[in-house]
Amino acid sequence: MTLFNLTESELRRRTSLKWNVFDPDVLPLWVAEMDVRVLPEVVQAVTEALELGDTGYPWGTRYAEAYAELADQRWGWRPAPDQLRRSGDVMNAILSLLLGNTAEGDHVALNPPVYQPFWQVIEGYRRHVTQVPLTDAGRLDLAALEHAFTGPAAPTAYLLCSPHNPTGTIHTPEELSAVARLCREHDVLLVVDEIHALLVDPGATFTPILSLPDAQDAVVTFSAGKGWNLPAFKAGLYVRGTDAARFVDALPPLANQSTGQMATIAHTAALRHGQAWVDAVMAEVADHKTLLADLLAEHLPGVTYRRAPGTYLAWLDCSALGLASPRTHFLAHARVALNSGSDFGPGYGQFVRLNLAASPALITEAVERMAASLR
Ligand SMILES: Cc1ncc(COP(=O)(O)O)c(C=O)c1O
Repeated sequence: MTLFNLTESELRRRTSLKWNVFDPDVLPLWVAEMDVRVLPEVVQAVTEALELGDTGYPWGTRYAEAYAELADQRWGWRPAPDQLRRSGDVMNAILSLLLGNTAEGDHVALNPPVYQPFWQVIEGYRRHVTQVPLTDAGRLDLAALEHAFTGPAAPTAYLLCSPHNPTGTIHTPEELSAVARLCREHDVLLVVDEIHALLVDPGATFTPILSLPDAQDAVVTFSAGKGWNLPAFKAGLYVRGTDAARFVDALPPLANQSTGQMATIAHTAALRHGQAWVDAVMAEVADHKTLLADLLAEHLPGVTYRRAPGTYLAWLDCSALGLASPRTHFLAHARVALNSGSDFGPGYGQFVRLNLAASPALITEAVERMAASLR
């Protein structure tokens, strides 16, 4: 039974971002929301809490314990209780870490193409981005990173996306260890966003950076919001390396006050009861990746898709189509909404990001419409 079983009219009744920004004739394959129902155990936990009137302030360490338990079961690594601290959500955790540990005018390294709010959380707060692009194969460029760490725009912090949004790259343990060693050597705070940690193809191995001995200076931000499609419930965790207490101690006041009680309950239920569910979602998404590759080969051979094992996002190179802006063209002429590559860094305007957490029927219709728009 498919988990992507909501009808289009049900999805159009939703009030969240994905299905509302564009006109009703547009197929929305953009922002990272999933077209799935909520894990039943989350519904049950939230319903019970509402019936009890359990709607006060959050308290305790249940979310942290559920994360530690999952990390142990899934990755064979278990953070100690003092390594975990609650946050409001991932982007606010990153903002707080940067505000507490870097100064105005500092540089922060990023790996374009990368999730747009990473740019905003730096440039919007009077810091500067040091760009260290992924290689053409979508991998971390260790030589370029070392070069950047010793150059004129040497950063005081480095924000790594693991797995990487939008390319779906899963960094290897060797890459992660090398990055962590470089950061330690050059006194760069390593902040790693692992919100996509559960979203990997069947059989693919994700390595939590803090399971590596070389990476104990790093601070990870995590939330169950992405893996179980719960961004409506704002909560998250800081997970610090065993040598990284000073970075969490430097968080500004109120940095951890915005965690929602209901969100804590929802995320905890997802972490405790939702591993088989997220694996089932990603098994379907793996089929959607194959479907997309086949559809593109048949209808849109000018679009290059390098399939990657992480995330439910597809990063498509449309340069061969000769369009001024692929995203604008497909919205106007195919009535398909995608994310523009330009949101992920300068120079990526010929790319689009397509969200595969949708039904096969929707993906098929979108690609057929995109092909027809070029004829
Ligand atoms: C890499 C990455 N980080 C953070 C977020 C947002 O997380 P939050 O809502 O917890 O701030 C997303 C959402 O898509 C994401 O892709």
